[in-house]
Amino acid sequence: MEYEFSERLQKLPPYLFVRLEEMTAKKRAEGMDIIDFGIGDPDLPTPDVIVDEMYEAAKVNKNQKYSSSAGERDLRVAIADWYKRRYGLDVDPDTEVCVTIGSKEAIFNIAQAFVNPGDTIIAPSPGYPVYSGASTLFNEAKCVKVPLRAEKGWLLDVDECPKGAKMLYLNYPNNPTGTTCDLDYLKKVYKWCQDNDTILCYDNAYCEMTFDGYSAPSILQAGRDAIEFGSFSKTFNMTGFRLGYAVGNKTLIAGLKKCKGQIDSGAPIFIQKAAIKALSLYGKNGEVPEVIKKNMDEYAKRREALVNGLRSFGFDVPMPKGTFYVWFDSKCKTSIEFTEKMLDLGIVVTPGSGFGESAEGYVRIAITQSVDRINEALDRMRKGGF
Ligand SMILES: Cc1ncc(COP(=O)(O)O)c(C=O)c1O
Repeated sequence: MEYEFSERLQKLPPYLFVRLEEMTAKKRAEGMDIIDFGIGDPDLPTPDVIVDEMYEAAKVNKNQKYSSSAGERDLRVAIADWYKRRYGLDVDPDTEVCVTIGSKEAIFNIAQAFVNPGDTIIAPSPGYPVYSGASTLFNEAKCVKVPLRAEKGWLLDVDECPKGAKMLYLNYPNNPTGTTCDLDYLKKVYKWCQDNDTILCYDNAYCEMTFDGYSAPSILQAGRDAIEFGSFSKTFNMTGFRLGYAVGNKTLIAGLKKCKGQIDSGAPIFIQKAAIKALSLYGKNGEVPEVIKKNMDEYAKRREALVNGLRSFGFDVPMPKGTFYVWFDSKCKTSIEFTEKMLDLGIVVTPGSGFGESAEGYVRIAITQSVDRINEALDRMRKGGF
């Protein structure tokens, strides 16, 4: 029998990292020692205290059963409690919180829940590919990619956004640019969405990955009529656990829960128990736990080694205040040209153009390698004529 992908699936471009992985695999097969700064997956381990909790929880029979697609109530309570400690916000664990299987599915499912065919979704460009990819295409929606610009500090300018859009995705600390924003900026975007009847989807996956004393705000501090997605992935080095959450407006959360109710049966309960432990590590007033401080100290050292090294080659590289991405203009005509040059040196970087055409020439480096490996990569670049 001949099988054909649905028209919808055919329209979907291959996911960025799939192509990169293929290119890298080829080099590895040729025997090259690869320094991989590609995908944003922390190399540092999940703290033992979290893994131990999961292990103990997995041994308990009732934790081996189906959860609910909205998540276990004790985790929803823990998330609400964390919002109180971290942001000073009161949220109702029953109506304003939903546990998700990583934040990626929720970013997609919120569109399934609220977007009709022909509706417009606003996606920042460059941006996380799911906004303009699956969220738009699987709902027969139209995506308007609004360019983020270096001269505007990579902040989305709402004056460039089309009125009448159904949904807007926004993400700071930002992947791929590493840009952060303040609460005043979020208030401006929030007001624009309110004035224009646009659902504001705030992707706060990197809220705890910050440097230099900067603390990332929640969109819910700007107003309650929005939905925020959070993740255990980057904060606690738990990407493989697949756990996140959505918090916000009751109707938006109800729509997400209804949609998820048809699709999944919730994240494994033992993983949710581990997440409760993770959140409990934060202090009474939202003080960042030692395990995260230690992580961020390590990333800070890597960030400085890499940024200073790249600057010494003449690149204009901002020191990011958030995320674990270093983002800069490669000075090549195309991002792919630079990516291939680096791959010839056994170094994997992500072409900025993969996050949106407007980022052509830019490159993202995830600091998921030790300082020694970063220095090794810089050495290879130096010897390679940079
Ligand atoms: C901006 C952004 N949002 C969401 C996600 C999804 O994270 P997860 O599904 O692991 O929670 C990522 C992952 O890299 C991301 O970069």
